[in-house]
Amino acid sequence: MGKIIEVNNVSKTFGKGESLNQVLNGACMSVEEGEFVSLMGASGSGKSTLLYLIGGLDRNYEGNITVCGKDIGTLKDKALSDIRLKNMGFVFQFYNLVMNLNVQDNILLPQTINGKKKSELKKELDEILEITGLTAKRKAMPNTLSGGQQQRVAIARAVLGNPSIILADEPTGNLDAASTKEIMDLFARLNKEKGLTILQVTHSADCAKYGTRTVFLENGKTVDSDADIDAVAATVGIEKAASDGVSAGEVVDAEAGTEANDASDANAEA
Ligand SMILES: Nc1ncnc2c1ncn2[C@@H]1O[C@H](COP(=O)(O)OP(=O)(O)OP(=O)(O)O)[C@@H](O)[C@H]1O
Ligand SMILES: [Mg+2]
Repeated sequence: MGKIIEVNNVSKTFGKGESLNQVLNGACMSVEEGEFVSLMGASGSGKSTLLYLIGGLDRNYEGNITVCGKDIGTLKDKALSDIRLKNMGFVFQFYNLVMNLNVQDNILLPQTINGKKKSELKKELDEILEITGLTAKRKAMPNTLSGGQQQRVAIARAVLGNPSIILADEPTGNLDAASTKEIMDLFARLNKEKGLTILQVTHSADCAKYGTRTVFLENGKTVDSDADIDAVAATVGIEKAASDGVSAGEVVDAEAGTEANDASDANAEA
């Protein structure tokens, strides 16, 4: 297995002058092919920012980001959108479905809009509908679906086209406990059975536990990957960082589970 995502010394600021906001400050992390990594940190610590940089949705940064072996900072727009279309699927907290298209047309949209024929995608569509438990809902309109079902449509849409990476920003942030479990189980299956590499942003230690590893984004603190998770929890203190107003982020990588962060996480969510 090789590194499928490499973030090397990445810095990102918003604004200028007095309103300059240094969100990422020399962040480094990498994700191996086939991993399911959870990215955690206080609100405002730059998780979404980092995810969007990795996804090529924002190209304005310092440092290097390599995805599927390509330094995305050096790619022309066309080459970058090709990588996005072929290699990456995006899932957001709000499902971003097109309300006047039915389930299957929503799932097909990113591919058909880029010139693929529906007939070419039929077999894959059937398989994805099956995996996501949406076969019976394929003709349903989004507004007739529960939140969990709508998120499953968004995941099916991200997975169609056979990407290698799924980037998910708080995919269960808007869901109840039962739907959250359903979505996390689905991600875990996609990771195991389809070998999809997943990078999810989450505030929930429970959700993070579905992943194989958790990376913490934290103001100016780094703990290397062999660090004891208790030490990470003690030094990082998500709850404390949130009240301090995190602005400059570095990445803290924790190989162990995320149990020790439960307490601070519950506060972060409140
Ligand atoms: N487009 C933007 N313009 C200006 N500032 C921005 C922009 N996007 C994000 N920021 C700022 O960057 C910082 C990090 O934001 P980001 O959305 O990455 O945080 P986050 O860790 O995802 O937080 P949350 O957990 O609340 O989603 C915040 O201070 C935010 O205000
Ligand atoms: Mg965010």
